[in-house]
Amino acid sequence: MEFKHIPVLFRESIDALDIKPDGLYADCTAGGGGHSNAILDRLSANGRLVAIDRDPEAIETLTKRFEGRENVSIVNDNFFNIKSILSQFTDEGADGILADLGVSSHQLDDAARGFSFHADAPLDMRMSMQGMSAADAVNSLSQRELQDIIYRYGEDKFAPRIAAGIVRARAEKPIETTFELNEIIKASIPAKVRATGGHPSKRTYQAIRIELNRELDVLENSIDMMIDRLNPQGRLCIITFHSLEDRIVKARFRNNENPCTCPPDFPVCVCGKKSKGKVITRKPIVPGDEELNENQRSKSSKLRVFERI
Ligand SMILES: C[S@@+](CC[C@H](N)C(=O)[O-])C[C@H]1O[C@@H](n2cnc3c(N)ncnc32)[C@H](O)[C@@H]1O
Ligand SMILES: [Zn+2]
Repeated sequence: MEFKHIPVLFRESIDALDIKPDGLYADCTAGGGGHSNAILDRLSANGRLVAIDRDPEAIETLTKRFEGRENVSIVNDNFFNIKSILSQFTDEGADGILADLGVSSHQLDDAARGFSFHADAPLDMRMSMQGMSAADAVNSLSQRELQDIIYRYGEDKFAPRIAAGIVRARAEKPIETTFELNEIIKASIPAKVRATGGHPSKRTYQAIRIELNRELDVLENSIDMMIDRLNPQGRLCIITFHSLEDRIVKARFRNNENPCTCPPDFPVCVCGKKSKGKVITRKPIVPGDEELNENQRSKSSKLRVFERI
């Protein structure tokens, strides 16, 4: 299947990277290669782009798309391993790092990947195509675990009902497909909400996807490593798609700007924790009206930028 993906906050994120033609850049979520291609276009023969994705299908697409281009290295890995990935290419740091989080349109549109509640397919949702699938999760996690996941990562107030519905249904027969799960979710929430709220499955799917792919843990634990691996004046640009992600980026950026843990009434800092740089975006950059009209996926996107001292 062709890898179609309209990059979000495209010009804004490429501008924010402030690309030096001879620099080393990492695209941590290369996907269909939209952002990567724009970075490559701005690099000279001495520059290099490391294009990373955990999805083997994205790697296949990137390999085809960038065939014959000398200064790109394509890496199938989790950006959580950014330190060891970059050390294969430089003893120093990177001049810029980009992460455009979440799922790609390809992952959503290819029914076989089981990410979308709009298409009937085996429940899967694994970005790396390895490990526990969504079907494994709904059939094996306890009711309490399911409830916590749907509440925490889906922010769905009907989490207890949905978790109970899942456990009731799987006692009859294992839940295997997206449409089976949709039916269970629909039957679990009040009829009034079914008619008025958005698609009843939206929040539960987001929650299961975040849990399976460990999206928030990975993000939380990667940002400091990314900042540590930046050269002076190097920039980290992160595009998020919901408030749970954005909150983490905002907090980690702020902490790296001002890590001091001394009590506020201390006249001088004694903890010795030094600032690693500055937050460039006091407020996140959001899409303009034109992008919002053209690309539904850009709706809740936010870009935050950090610059290394
Ligand atoms: C929104 S898409 C990126 C699209 C890309 N910027 C483009 O222009 O085509 C997100 C991509 O990040 C990948 N991804 C998400 N989390 C990842 C992680 N922790 N490590 C590596 N890749 C990840 C997904 O597999 C997906 O392909
Ligand atoms: Zn201090």
